[in-house]
Amino acid sequence: MKKFLDLISEEMGSAFERAGFDATLGKVSLSNRPDLCEYQCNGAMAGAKVHKKAPIMIANAVAEELKESAVFSQVEVAPPGFLNCKLQPAFVAAYLEEMRTAEKFGYEAANEPETIVIDYGGPNVAKPLHVGHLRSAIIGESIKRISRYAGHTVIGDIHLGDWGLQMGLIIYELSLRQPDLVYFDPDFTGEYPKEAPFTISELEEIYPTASGKSKEDPAYKAAAMEATFKLQSGVKGYRALWKHILAVSVADLKKNYATLNVDFDLWKGESDGHDIIPGMVDYMKKGGYAYISEGALVVDVKEETDTKEIPPCMILKSDGASLYNTTDLATIMDRMEHIKPNSLIYVVDKRQDLYFEQVFRCARKTKLVGPETKLHFVGFGTMNGKDGKPFKTREGGVMRLENLLKEINQEMLKKILENREMDESEAKEIAAMVALAAVKYGDLSNQASKDYIFDMERFMSFEGDTGPYILYTIVRIKSILNKYKSQGGSLENLKLNCPDSDSEKNLMKEIAKFNAMVENAYQEIAPHKVCAFIYDLANAFNRFYHETKILTEENEEKKAGYIALLILCRDVLETCVDLLGFSAPERM
Ligand code: ARG
Repeated sequence: MKKFLDLISEEMGSAFERAGFDATLGKVSLSNRPDLCEYQCNGAMAGAKVHKKAPIMIANAVAEELKESAVFSQVEVAPPGFLNCKLQPAFVAAYLEEMRTAEKFGYEAANEPETIVIDYGGPNVAKPLHVGHLRSAIIGESIKRISRYAGHTVIGDIHLGDWGLQMGLIIYELSLRQPDLVYFDPDFTGEYPKEAPFTISELEEIYPTASGKSKEDPAYKAAAMEATFKLQSGVKGYRALWKHILAVSVADLKKNYATLNVDFDLWKGESDGHDIIPGMVDYMKKGGYAYISEGALVVDVKEETDTKEIPPCMILKSDGASLYNTTDLATIMDRMEHIKPNSLIYVVDKRQDLYFEQVFRCARKTKLVGPETKLHFVGFGTMNGKDGKPFKTREGGVMRLENLLKEINQEMLKKILENREMDESEAKEIAAMVALAAVKYGDLSNQASKDYIFDMERFMSFEGDTGPYILYTIVRIKSILNKYKSQGGSLENLKLNCPDSDSEKNLMKEIAKFNAMVENAYQEIAPHKVCAFIYDLANAFNRFYHETKILTEENEEKKAGYIALLILCRDVLETCVDLLGFSAPERM
């Protein structure tokens, strides 16, 4: 289906043409004077030079052509040559009627689907998820859903931090605590136990302890580095232990991400690049890209046009050890070989932007990635507390994601039980849904690159630009529909009204923006556009609701038309919240 604004522009363009002017001048946009008109066209001003004619004359001639228009009910000329327009209610209704019956509301998904890899989440194994991981998960999940809706093949990869020093720290600390474990016996030839010698809570205690010790004690750190090296070079017992750490940790991560309604197609990690590294290094050396500088192997990535210093990309440290860069480049090589994506999107803290600039340049220069493949870094800002500093617990520590979500769930449960009586287990389920909407919408409604203040009270409010307000609106619609049904009404075979009130027409016009909005959110990798759209839509619905007697409407046909509009509005809203990664309950 053509986009709403495009259709309107076409009508305007053909009027320009009939009047003897260039059709491309007929571009119509939303009015920036909604008190005067709904849409406007400024083409007459732009056309003055081309056609050597006063804008007002052009505008008058175009308006004349639109007197009988089926699209515009009003085209007024305002000096120096603005065309101020209103739409025919029947045109709006017909467009919505088509949307209502079309698949995906008439949104035209991509003709040639692309393959897109989204690298998001990025948690580190054996470390609990903290709020810093929240944004990547929430934003990445939404980008994934939007891109899929746009018709593409999207692969979400969690890219676990599972190969660095943190692994060596845990293994070394374990070797001190339980030296008799078979994993540490170099002569052991049997099969290693299936059960891990620790639980997730033990792991979560072992890591910070080991990390603390290594900071104070250089010998301890050296031993942990040695353990990391042994692990990476394939010592059997260490690998077996590492597999346990991974399994225990991943099981816990899966649980946590499930609570967030976030899931990944691939649970790969930095370690998966390991076997590729030697070949990649060889390739970079042979291609003449990589050279030794102060003992380390590097690739120059600076460019003449740089305004700031971009240091070389280090491929191997002087001791031959690989780095964060190395695993990322190896992962790119792997993805290009096995997935062959058209684009790679990384959703990572924006403080890593220089790092990704280096990695991307290195990947291009060394031709791991061809010019036809797009590389996007979606760097997100920091989630701050009300004091404007990075979000912390009340005690000033790092807030665990699990605890944050628990706290919000409890607050929401209180709020819901204050509002109405409800069975405890139902209330809990609803509270979890609304709390998730509060957190996700609070995050996604900001442009990703901006820092934002995590203001729990505001995010949880049922009023204003919040997730709960959106859900409340959906639930309000559902409840009207249920009442209509219980009064004997059917939700089948309905047809929209030709709108006769301003609020009904306005609601329809908001819904009509859906197609263009989805396309834009996809192109710009911008979930906040979905939020802005549903906020306007929810407002338009609530205005309509307050100004219209829906269920008490006496004309049954008209009432049925309202119901059709409500269903469409609900469906569009629910589709959008799904794109954001949450959903609405039946009641709240
Ligand atoms: N594990 C990393 C961290 O916690 C994030 C990984 C981001 N993704 C990537 N491909 N480097 O900072």
